[in-house]
Amino acid sequence: MTILLDGKTLSTKILIDLAGRISAQNAKPKLAVIMVGDNPASQIYVKLKEKRAKAVGIEPLVLPLDKNISQNALLEHIDILNEDPAINAILVQMPLPEHIDAEQIVSRISPFKDVDGFNPINVGNLVSGSTPYAVPCTPLGIIKLLNEYKITIAEKNAVIIGRSNIVGKPMAQMLLDRNATVTICHSKTKNLKSFTQNADIIVSATGSPKLITADMIKQNAVIIDVGVSKLENGKICGDVDFENVSYLAGAITPNPGGVGPMTIAMLLENTFRLYSQQTK
Ligand code: GUN
Repeated sequence: MTILLDGKTLSTKILIDLAGRISAQNAKPKLAVIMVGDNPASQIYVKLKEKRAKAVGIEPLVLPLDKNISQNALLEHIDILNEDPAINAILVQMPLPEHIDAEQIVSRISPFKDVDGFNPINVGNLVSGSTPYAVPCTPLGIIKLLNEYKITIAEKNAVIIGRSNIVGKPMAQMLLDRNATVTICHSKTKNLKSFTQNADIIVSATGSPKLITADMIKQNAVIIDVGVSKLENGKICGDVDFENVSYLAGAITPNPGGVGPMTIAMLLENTFRLYSQQTK
């Protein structure tokens, strides 16, 4: 029997628990979300983040900024938020327009308010084994999901497809920290199948619809689908050919309803974590 890794149900449980902790402490955490331009997918994500934040007692402050904003003007917005004691957490929605240097932007966010864990200080602490102020939301959500379903990570072969700073790289570190043997594959990897066929755990974060097919996985593998693509017919599709892969897999995330809701739950957990660090 294939286990469905139900991120929707787990995230709801996490958010109810979080709302209880926020209310019990009469806490007023505040999350600033900078949204540059009008990327349709980002707009949907930001709206959802705003809605979920309000539902748990976190005050969202969404700053929609023009897609042509200069690097300096964007940095100034971050400086203002960094200095505002009422703001506990700052998120800059990715992707940013081409003309913006995203590295410089995330480096400018105070590490104490860096809810995504993208600032080099938090990345460095994750890699070196120190405690970051926050760790990236998507890989953190995936670890929570694996833990919830008691999926062993130690000694497993984990193959990650995608090497982004948002998912692939921090995911590799977090699985390595839990004693998996980790391989990162990417768009230049030759013979992807030769890696995935040996994987006990596959995390795919590419945005290539149905990249992972049944012939690429071994029986009982754990399949985590982070991908989100919009097909020509308007349907949202993950990286995994769910229909066929789910027969073989030991456990698999639905998509939607797997990783996505966990990411938002971790964002709000991280917001409260930063609030607690700042107010203790
Ligand atoms: N775009 C897609 N995922 C994320 C995320 O986790 N954080 C931010 N800031 N942007 C994203």
